[in-house]
Amino acid sequence: MKKNILLFFLLLASSTLPAQQTSLFTLRCEHLPHPIGIDAAQPRLQWEVKTAGKEQSHYRIMVDTDSAKLAKGSASNWNTGKIASAQTLVNYQGKKLGPFTRYYWKVEVWTDTGKSPVSSPITYFETGMMEGKNWQGAWISDGQDMHFKTAPYFRKSFQRSKKIRSARVYIAAAGLFELSLNGEKTGNHRLDPMYTRFDKRNLYVTFDVTQQLKQGNNSIGLILGNGWYNHQSTAVWNFHKAGWRARPSFLLNLRIQYADCSVETIATDTSWKTTTGPITFNSIYTAEHYDARLEQKGWNTPSFNDTHWRNAIPSKAPSTQITAQTLHPIRDVEEIPAISMNRINDSIAVFNLGRNISGVSSIRVKGPAGTIIRMKHGERLLPNGRVDLSNIDVHYRPKGNDDPFQTDIFILPGNGEAYFKPRFNYKGFQYVEVQSSQPVTLSKESLTGHFMHSDVPSIGHIRSSNPTLNKIWEATNNAYLSNLFGYPTDCPQREKNGWTGDAHIAVETGLYSYDAFTIYEKWMADHRDEQQPNGVLPSIIPTWGGWGYDWGNGPDWTSTIAIIPWNLYLFYGDAQPLRDSYPNMKKYVDYINEISPSGLTDWGLGDWVPVKSVSPKELTSSIYYFVDATILSETAKLLGNLNDHTKYETLAQKIRNAINTKYLDTAKGIYGSGLQTELSAPLCWGIVPDALRAKVAANLHQRVAADGYALDVGILGAKAILNALSENGYANTAYQLAARETYPSWGWWVKNGATTLYENWDINAKSDISLNHIMFGEIGAWLYKGPGGIKPDPAQPGFKNVLLQPHFVDGLESFEASHCGPYGEIVSSWKKEKNKIIYNVEIPFNSTAALRLPAGMNMKTTKGAAPQPNGTTFHLSAGTYTFELTSVSK
Ligand code: BGC
Repeated sequence: MKKNILLFFLLLASSTLPAQQTSLFTLRCEHLPHPIGIDAAQPRLQWEVKTAGKEQSHYRIMVDTDSAKLAKGSASNWNTGKIASAQTLVNYQGKKLGPFTRYYWKVEVWTDTGKSPVSSPITYFETGMMEGKNWQGAWISDGQDMHFKTAPYFRKSFQRSKKIRSARVYIAAAGLFELSLNGEKTGNHRLDPMYTRFDKRNLYVTFDVTQQLKQGNNSIGLILGNGWYNHQSTAVWNFHKAGWRARPSFLLNLRIQYADCSVETIATDTSWKTTTGPITFNSIYTAEHYDARLEQKGWNTPSFNDTHWRNAIPSKAPSTQITAQTLHPIRDVEEIPAISMNRINDSIAVFNLGRNISGVSSIRVKGPAGTIIRMKHGERLLPNGRVDLSNIDVHYRPKGNDDPFQTDIFILPGNGEAYFKPRFNYKGFQYVEVQSSQPVTLSKESLTGHFMHSDVPSIGHIRSSNPTLNKIWEATNNAYLSNLFGYPTDCPQREKNGWTGDAHIAVETGLYSYDAFTIYEKWMADHRDEQQPNGVLPSIIPTWGGWGYDWGNGPDWTSTIAIIPWNLYLFYGDAQPLRDSYPNMKKYVDYINEISPSGLTDWGLGDWVPVKSVSPKELTSSIYYFVDATILSETAKLLGNLNDHTKYETLAQKIRNAINTKYLDTAKGIYGSGLQTELSAPLCWGIVPDALRAKVAANLHQRVAADGYALDVGILGAKAILNALSENGYANTAYQLAARETYPSWGWWVKNGATTLYENWDINAKSDISLNHIMFGEIGAWLYKGPGGIKPDPAQPGFKNVLLQPHFVDGLESFEASHCGPYGEIVSSWKKEKNKIIYNVEIPFNSTAALRLPAGMNMKTTKGAAPQPNGTTFHLSAGTYTFELTSVSK
């Protein structure tokens, strides 16, 4: 149940401690295990500890650049002393951090047991450039123009005679890169650096290359891809018109520290050599073309003779801001063998991976030189068994036939078996149609799928007695991950756009199951880069300054500016993202206020892709406007800005009143005409006056019943409806919707073979029918919140206190939810037995829970200390509990 990575650190930690004090630590810096190349001046240090006792009473953090001295108790960079606090997330506040330096740190924790402190093992973080002035050398390219198709290769050879102590590569690229040292790929990332607003900010990546360097001759090899920087394919969003567009370029510093303490930096300049190679075309949007006949064997090894290569050309820096890429990278996370190969004829075969993924396929094939292999990737098949792209190529506007959609082109070298896997592209697909210009031998094993995404650790788990529900949860995770590539996307095939609405709908689903903090934090920086001076934000982020600013960017979509940092705060107890985006939230809300003085706004897209009924756009957009104003007011309070707190609280009230005046029939307890979304959204987002909640909820339940327990919502309603029902006394109704297996429902997709979530309830819809969208994905979060009952407490965020409110719904025999929050693993699992429910709970060290059971239940504690009731709530301290629950009436 617990993630592997965590286990590794736990084991590491336990092995270094005396047996009588077994305590298991997980240590993080900037929300990563032990990052190298960070730029933060006051990085966040964080620990999680499993130890005897209930609570942390004190902590001491110690930091030193010398690990041996730190082990002996010296902390010359920072020693907090013994601080009385239960806090476990602390900003570094010691001596000013220098660049290129490894800082070792550890923490001592005192607990309520009164014993001597438990000490964490020593870990580290390492700074990178810290400041722009520390870069050496120049940005370089091969000097071709942006229309040139073939990808540039670069190399630099050099000699080292002294003994090397450590070596780092710092590399910023406009475009994408793949780096190698002495013939070997560096690291295991894919598609570095992540996509940003390139003319505002560029990311650099740090690699530890100590092991890859050797004494004697060395060589650096680098291939540049276009990525979003030089978008050569043409589609409706016009990325080919981006003002930032240019031939890819890069800036690299290889910093070597020798055993004699001297330092040498090899930086990019015009002495680097360049040429073109086998990658004859690459597009992040469509595909990659590779002519293996153009390979230059050993091009990135020291012995290669590069005298026929040209010198690199200096190029302009794409922006003035180069910052560290501090996040979980994209990787080839899962290898997926084909489950079948269907031979259509002697030159066409269709491979089926058995599941829909984002990523690439690789192929091993033998054939005569010049044989052209086309690999077309799609989500559906035509009746004749061939791959159908018609559901995903609708926004593509090709200028000719030389850039086919989701179709790699591989030309064989002719000397034995050849291998191809694209470097600078990914796709969304389940099927690959392989067509060869002359017959080649293929078997099922010839092709492999590679599921690529931001490699965020898995931190949540759901298992229930209903197999369909389990499959829905898995499909939700697959869709979530397929849409995480350093920014959240809508779909991995048709668009790959950072649609804001899809992302705020899915944020809770993501954060319950994955440690995605770093991805969202980076994405909020993208938001700040994109905001116009008047406060307007685009509907897709990143974008290029054109598309997205005048369509779809109302509060129902672009409330990401408030909703994402707020959820990071709730799930991690870290206020940094709120602090960073506060001025931007304010500008966005002020702008809406300016254009909507009445408190109501019609700006937005509304309840997108509904089943049938259409709810008023003004109602849903104004609700999101209210949500923004409320988050802004709460953030102002948190940051101590009381004037803003009052100002935006007043604004929020004004919006709420305006909504209720126009849409709420107080006598009937109905909003608008009483559609599912019209009733769910006000309930879910706190619009309904307290006195009318029960009435509106009853109306929602009746509406759902009258609709035959079938969903009648679009994406905004789907976000709200399960929560609105289960939080207002209708958990069974929510479950009926969640577990339904006929159209329209999540279960209907799964029953029809879905392994991801879809864009449309109707699987035969003619438009909006990508098979890998996350925008209906709130059900993933609801499983934790509803039947699991695990919710963050806004008053004590980061699961410092867990709101534990499970719903033992009819139709489910057992349910298990677990989530690893900042304090450790929270478990809420139950099983129905004859006349009782056995309910198991785990609350990690240094946190508590407020347990509220559904009305009418008796509770007997059979494991753990019996908690005392406080009204209808039981207070649980850290520990493991088993409760036997019986119905009062029985
Ligand atoms: C995207 C959606 C997005 C929507 C906005 C679609 O094309 O795929 O997921 O939110 O446009 O209208």
